Amino acid sequence: MNYSYRNLFDLHPDVATFLDLGCGRGFVSLYAAARGLTVDAVDIEKETPASLDGIPSVTYMVADLKDWKPTKRYDIIVIHHSLQFLTKAYALQEFLPTICQALNPGGVLEIFTFTPEETLSVPTTYTLEEVRDALGELTIIEQKTYSYDGTHRKVGPHTFHELHVIAKKSL
Ligand SMILES: C[S@@+](CC[C@H](N)C(=O)[O-])C[C@H]1O[C@@H](n2cnc3c(N)ncnc32)[C@H](O)[C@@H]1O
Repeated sequence: MNYSYRNLFDLHPDVATFLDLGCGRGFVSLYAAARGLTVDAVDIEKETPASLDGIPSVTYMVADLKDWKPTKRYDIIVIHHSLQFLTKAYALQEFLPTICQALNPGGVLEIFTFTPEETLSVPTTYTLEEVRDALGELTIIEQKTYSYDGTHRKVGPHTFHELHVIAKKSL
């Protein structure tokens, strides 16, 4: 898939605050910080990712998304390849609605996750309709499912099946 972080940031001209849920090595957070945003990055891993360590505009928070709730509002929130670790009922009925509430007016939410076609043993997969329906009043800007051939760090060559959603809160 042809993907660039830049497109996401272009959707919100006045963006100032950024939340990265399940940030992993923190690359999208690093990109946001380099653009001058104030960033909160959340992951279950205890150690701050090396890419984010020592960056004053980034707050790294160790938390389990299964029971973490935002205490602030944000202009952009990303959930990149971490929704699959939550149970479906919790993700769709509690987590995503709570995250939508944590968007500022005009705020943008981006989700990448796996679809039911995925053959890796992913804890939870989602259809596009399930994710879209959990986003309530947000306006869907981008929605697609796609497959691509890549390399999985454990199984090697693999065809991945994923979905991508971008949604925006009204002003
Ligand atoms: C596949 S990685 C994705 C990392 C990054 N978002 C990306 O797209 O490159 C999934 C991340 O979610 C984190 N994670 C898994 N379960 C989690 C949980 N229950 N709460 C918080 N983070 C979790 C993992 O530690 C890992 O860093």
